Amino acid sequence: MDMERKLDLYVEEMKMHMEESEFFVQPELIINPIILEIKKIDQQLSEEYGRPIVEYIKWRIKTPESIVKKLYRKQRKPTFDCAIKTINDLVGIRIVCSFQDDVYKMTKRIRKISGLKIKKVKDYIAHPKSSGYRSIHIIVELPYNEEQKIGLEIQIRSAAMNYWATLDHQLSYKHKVVDPKETEKIREELKSYALDIAEIDKKFLKLRKKIDKL
Ligand code: GTP
Ligand code: MG
Repeated sequence: MDMERKLDLYVEEMKMHMEESEFFVQPELIINPIILEIKKIDQQLSEEYGRPIVEYIKWRIKTPESIVKKLYRKQRKPTFDCAIKTINDLVGIRIVCSFQDDVYKMTKRIRKISGLKIKKVKDYIAHPKSSGYRSIHIIVELPYNEEQKIGLEIQIRSAAMNYWATLDHQLSYKHKVVDPKETEKIREELKSYALDIAEIDKKFLKLRKKIDKL
């Protein structure tokens, strides 16, 4: 059997398991209370600082296709059990804030949400990825069943970082590259814009602080 056909079968199997799982049938039951906490934090911060802090909040469940692709890419078994055990972002929440300092304000308060089991916080703003990617990731363990946990990744970034990440994400989806030279050129160009955007983000923050003081 060719690889593509094999992967399709794994995707089918993954889908079946997800359709039989209470969590994946109604993920809102676990996720809505967390979103509500985040909205409360946004409300508190917005009142404290007298301006909006969060531009938007989104969440998603990783699709069976994307789960199988990721496991395959990481050379792990493409099974449901392996997905639950090893994937950090089966559930993803993205919070887009207006400014860089808002990203840290949100992060600090999210870390204090009682009952939220935080495994790790990755600061890709202080330590950008080689692509130029910037964001804060909070890796959380959600209850799945009596024995197992499930991974939630909360990504927090500024509107400017999000603008960059969206285009970069589109590039990462070009798997069947016909022109590797051109792709490499685009990648380099994107990386240089990550720096430009980070610079503007800093300048805007400085300017906002001046405006705050007026
Ligand atoms: P994956 O990158 O998801 O395989 O897992 P990992 O364990 O390496 O975690 P990492 O923190 O590198 O990335 C987790 C998620 O962050 C990814 O699934 C993306 O949503 C996002 N991300 C990481 N790096 C980049 C990047 O270079 N560009 C963009 N647009 N998003 C990225
Ligand atoms: Mg990665």
